[in-house]
Amino acid sequence: MAKKYKTALVTGGAGFIGSHIVDALIKRRIKVYVVDDLSSGRKSNVNPNAHFTKMSILNPQFPKYLKRVSPDIIFHTAAHINLRESIIDPPSDAETNVLGTLKLAHHAGKIGVKKIVFSSTGGAMYSTDARIPTSEKVAPAPISPYGIAKRSGEMYLNFAYHVHGIEYIALRYANVYGPRQHAKSESGVISIFGEKMLQGEPVAISGSGKQTRDFVYVDDVVRANMLAMNKKVIGEFNIGTGKETDINTLFRKMKDITGYQLSPRKLPEPPGEIARSALDARKARAYLGWTPKTRLEEGLQKTIRSFQKK
Ligand SMILES: NC(=O)c1ccc[n+]([C@@H]2O[C@H](COP(=O)([O-])OP(=O)(O)OC[C@H]3O[C@@H](n4cnc5c(N)ncnc54)[C@H](O)[C@@H]3O)[C@@H](O)[C@H]2O)c1
Repeated sequence: MAKKYKTALVTGGAGFIGSHIVDALIKRRIKVYVVDDLSSGRKSNVNPNAHFTKMSILNPQFPKYLKRVSPDIIFHTAAHINLRESIIDPPSDAETNVLGTLKLAHHAGKIGVKKIVFSSTGGAMYSTDARIPTSEKVAPAPISPYGIAKRSGEMYLNFAYHVHGIEYIALRYANVYGPRQHAKSESGVISIFGEKMLQGEPVAISGSGKQTRDFVYVDDVVRANMLAMNKKVIGEFNIGTGKETDINTLFRKMKDITGYQLSPRKLPEPPGEIARSALDARKARAYLGWTPKTRLEEGLQKTIRSFQKK
């Protein structure tokens, strides 16, 4: 079968998730361009077979770059990713996450890009009262500027679809973890715990530690992106395991794997902390053929091994 897409642009391709998407595209023999301002990503994450340009998607030269590269498909992962920082400084979050996504969709539409696969959020998209695991049938009700910006991005992509005919899929990730994740991330708890445990440093748990999250391994997220590339559907899809893991349990599992000896320090609960979170991904299973394959224990082992190598 002929390849549907020959060239791809990955915005944020020097970041954690973006760099794994780049690797998967290169394996599929797709020509890959990466644009990243390296604000949180690392050049060393970028596959040497990708064509890397250090540039912000907000740079006035970006539309020219996009036109020159003219990708068939864009994986849009570039973002300001820290939810807590978005609460402190919403305008700076909105610059990349609202304006950046809007500009990307606008200019991509004008040059005939066929599709955008957008890295959205499930963890910050729904009301805290929503039933768990939460499905896309629940109306989005983001309360953080980060979640509001991601929802705006989805809506602008829907706009670009109607105006320019550019297809889009927004993947609403749960808490993604795996090799190359840095500790600043929206859901960086596993990378923070991992690095500290390996160095024998004290690990802190905020609040009771009974708050739950849905941890999904990066390889499963990359597979969701690859399926999204090839399926002819439009819209939003949750990408999560549907399983809740509380932070105390996570701590214990990681302690067992790393052989960590210390007890956790307790910190006060930060304001706006969500008590429970897990995503129902049955829509992704039905339309994309996606299910998570990596069990938490296995994903944690792989992640910690990669941190040890580092
Ligand atoms: N990690 C998670 O659990 C999670 C959960 C939900 C959604 N997401 C989304 O997935 C995407 C990737 O997240 P990640 O965890 O890999 O974070 P990351 O910080 O590793 O990746 C983001 C990349 O975007 C780049 N970037 C930021 N602003 C840019 C700009 N203006 N122009 C060009 N590049 C820019 C950064 O340098 C970085 O390399 C983000 O859109 C994030 O919001 C992540």
